[in-house]
Amino acid sequence: MFHAVTTIALACVALGWLLRHRLGHHVACMGAACLMDYGTLIALELSRGPAIAKALSAPPPLLSFHVAVSVAALLCYPALIVLGIGSVTKKPHWLSVHRRTGRAFLLVRLANYVTSWMI
Ligand code: HEM
Repeated sequence: MFHAVTTIALACVALGWLLRHRLGHHVACMGAACLMDYGTLIALELSRGPAIAKALSAPPPLLSFHVAVSVAALLCYPALIVLGIGSVTKKPHWLSVHRRTGRAFLLVRLANYVTSWMI
């Protein structure tokens, strides 16, 4: 179930990237992915008890890496929303920061997905 949702979320991210020149579609796809990713975190926490606490208590290296890229991806969402809104409103120079952060986000989100199948 969690893998199905995270696969759909990654597909939304890929579509959001492909549609990055169409602002409305881009925001809709990335927004949907954001909701699914935060929803998965909440559902994991509720269904598997304190998943975050468990993950942080002496985890093996691959699990540590998975937690690190997952947290990085989740932190990128609010940053990209703020940078994206800023870049289309009053701070055009924010767009280059949004683009660079967006590319870093693509890397960590992909790493999150790949390692989610390995842990
Ligand atoms: C929800 C989180 C978001 C994510 C994960 C995200 C991610 C990305 C990524 C990966 C790129 C492409 C970077 C590149 O390869 O150059 C991009 C470009 C862009 N994003 Fe976002 N974005 C988000 C939200 C937003 C929002 C809220 C806005 C504006 C309201 C926005 C506006 C743009 C624009 C204008 C571009 C450049 C498109 C172009 O090159 O013509 N993004 N974003």
